[in-house]
Amino acid sequence: MKGFTVAIVGAGIGREHLAAYVTLPDDFTVVTLCDKDTERAHEVIGSHGDIQVVSDFASVLQDPSVDVVDICLPPHLHKQAVIDALAADKHVVCEKPLVTSLSDADDIGRILSMSSRSLTPVFQYRYGPAMSQLRALMNQGLCGKPLVASVETHWHRDSDYYNNPWRGTWQGEQGGAVLGHAIHNHDLLCSVFGPVGQLSALTTTRVNDIETEDCASISLQMANGALASSSITLGAADDTSRLRFCFEKLTATSGTNPYAPADSQWRFQARGANDQKAVDDCVASVPDSPVGYIGLFTELAKKLRGLPHDCVNFEDGRRSLELVTAVYHASRTQRSVVLPLDESFDAYRSWQP
Ligand SMILES: NC(=O)c1ccc[n+]([C@@H]2O[C@H](COP(=O)([O-])OP(=O)(O)OC[C@H]3O[C@@H](n4cnc5c(N)ncnc54)[C@H](O)[C@@H]3O)[C@@H](O)[C@H]2O)c1
Repeated sequence: MKGFTVAIVGAGIGREHLAAYVTLPDDFTVVTLCDKDTERAHEVIGSHGDIQVVSDFASVLQDPSVDVVDICLPPHLHKQAVIDALAADKHVVCEKPLVTSLSDADDIGRILSMSSRSLTPVFQYRYGPAMSQLRALMNQGLCGKPLVASVETHWHRDSDYYNNPWRGTWQGEQGGAVLGHAIHNHDLLCSVFGPVGQLSALTTTRVNDIETEDCASISLQMANGALASSSITLGAADDTSRLRFCFEKLTATSGTNPYAPADSQWRFQARGANDQKAVDDCVASVPDSPVGYIGLFTELAKKLRGLPHDCVNFEDGRRSLELVTAVYHASRTQRSVVLPLDESFDAYRSWQP
């Protein structure tokens, strides 16, 4: 068996994780799919008859042949599953949101710092040609100072989507569109413009009959002084993600691919008329890179082998939860919130109402 062995836990989005791992046979072999709904798991493994289906997470942890536990469970189950998998000496991949409060994130951080294993929160939108091109432009000094960004997460979700007991509830989903949907685009914003310095936010529920928010408008100032705005709804006519980054020397405009923004055609426009050739040459020189989960798992394999990598790390997962905490608190108190947040912050232990 080549590479690392993987047990996927949860057969919902776990299906897409499996589809990505099987494209990387030199890096990973999926040996187990665990779901308490074994019928669903059998349907997901389909023709991959060499993958065993189990219903019980404990048996995954006890299996010495498993190197990586990939957690695709509903959000409220992530914390204990991550802790148990690290305690069982497994490398861990965990779907977003990593956990559901900053204090839980810091508990995980402490456990991780004493572990020899790695933890990789899932932010697969970072991977694909356009993000590689933008990073190359930044690294070559062709962007200059970040000025403003706008981020749109305008998706369509209706009652079919919420016909799942954990969705749309504070207890199960632990948040609405800010936590569950815009978290990816906010991760992209921070991975390009750096951490958030302060924000104010409004959230509301206007689309579906659910407890959590399905619309939001957020105003941010990044720690480096740049400004950004994020507009979120689950009531759009179709699913569209759109990002625009204006730098001192260049404006980067994404396409509208909702779930793989880095796989759409971006426009990189130099501000100075004479600078466009350098921008175009830089973009043309960037090798093609794998998109989404395949991109993430390609970097994960490098990380597990101790090679230089561009994999998501624990701090990225914590940062995303810090932003969520700040948004919910700002919306509820109608006050702006200054980041970073620590245990002295009101909503540190819970962002729930
Ligand atoms: N990165 C992304 O783009 C993306 C997309 C969709 C979902 N997600 C995240 O993935 C996670 C799962 O979401 P989903 O849409 O796949 O949910 P889902 O409800 O469709 O699937 C979860 C699966 O977990 C199983 N399960 C629940 N408790 C279990 C237990 N104790 N032991 C074994 N199996 C158990 C359920 O039977 C179910 O099949 C969530 O955190 C969600 O936010 C991420």
